[in-house]
Amino acid sequence: MGLLDGKTALVTGGATGIGLASAVRLAAEGAHVFITGRRKIELDAAVEVIGSAATAVIGDISNLADLDVLYDAIRSRGRGLDVLFANAAVAEFVTLEHVSEEHFDTLFGINVRGTLFTVQKALPLLNDGASVILNGSTNMDVGAEAFGVYAATKAASRSFSRTWANELKGRGIRVNTITPGPTDTPGLSGLAPDADAAAGLKQQLATHVPLGRLGRPEEIAAAVAFLASEQSSFITGSSLYVDGGLNQI
Ligand SMILES: NC(=O)c1ccc[n+]([C@@H]2O[C@H](COP(=O)([O-])OP(=O)(O)OC[C@H]3O[C@@H](n4cnc5c(N)ncnc54)[C@H](OP(=O)(O)O)[C@@H]3O)[C@@H](O)[C@H]2O)c1
Repeated sequence: MGLLDGKTALVTGGATGIGLASAVRLAAEGAHVFITGRRKIELDAAVEVIGSAATAVIGDISNLADLDVLYDAIRSRGRGLDVLFANAAVAEFVTLEHVSEEHFDTLFGINVRGTLFTVQKALPLLNDGASVILNGSTNMDVGAEAFGVYAATKAASRSFSRTWANELKGRGIRVNTITPGPTDTPGLSGLAPDADAAAGLKQQLATHVPLGRLGRPEEIAAAVAFLASEQSSFITGSSLYVDGGLNQI
């Protein structure tokens, strides 16, 4: 018996990194998992990895028409939606003096606006008792240089999870934030200009983590599965840190 037998889940940004590991884990727990992202090749490869319990729908969460296509696909399966992991986001290092309108609009457009409409448009499909999980970041609590706009998007997302937990409690829908510390993903590598710089960045980030290493996507996915399931039935409006102790000690 899996924790999510017979359930339907959606993981945005489910083709790579934390999203892919979470989709794999939710499927292993018995859920049928929809994944979405903007790149077809990555989505197809992810479906190969996840297996027959996966359905990929190409789309951009900051495009409301794409969200309609995604939710039409889930609706046509006829079982509603039990788990929504709003994971898709983008990041980029930019100090205040170099923040452009494009940087601000892209990060807020995807991480904040996209996350809001991902959840808003899911509301008619969410079954009573569903679990909504937003992906935060330890950066939302701290003032890491050159990460101001990204951190602000994650603080906004954390705020959403509190409000939405309150607004959806009447339907038994729980809303929580998962808060990863630095985790070894393509997204983290992509913050650096090349492979050598990425290795250096990861090494430097690991020195700040009390457990002395980066997280693995599977470790974040395990916590996502917990929040998705009845195992966390008395947890809502919370932030679950999976950060090797980074923001704790
Ligand atoms: N890795 C870390 O250290 C870390 C730490 C804390 C929090 N997080 C959070 O974890 C989440 C996943 O990040 P990751 O590290 O796993 O990075 P990743 O490997 O780059 O995964 C992000 C995924 O989101 C998708 N995506 C981005 N923009 C999208 C959009 N507009 N519409 C649909 N899909 C979109 C990407 O696919 P396409 O480009 O194909 O669309 C990609 O598959 C993010 O919310 C990130 O902020 C990561």
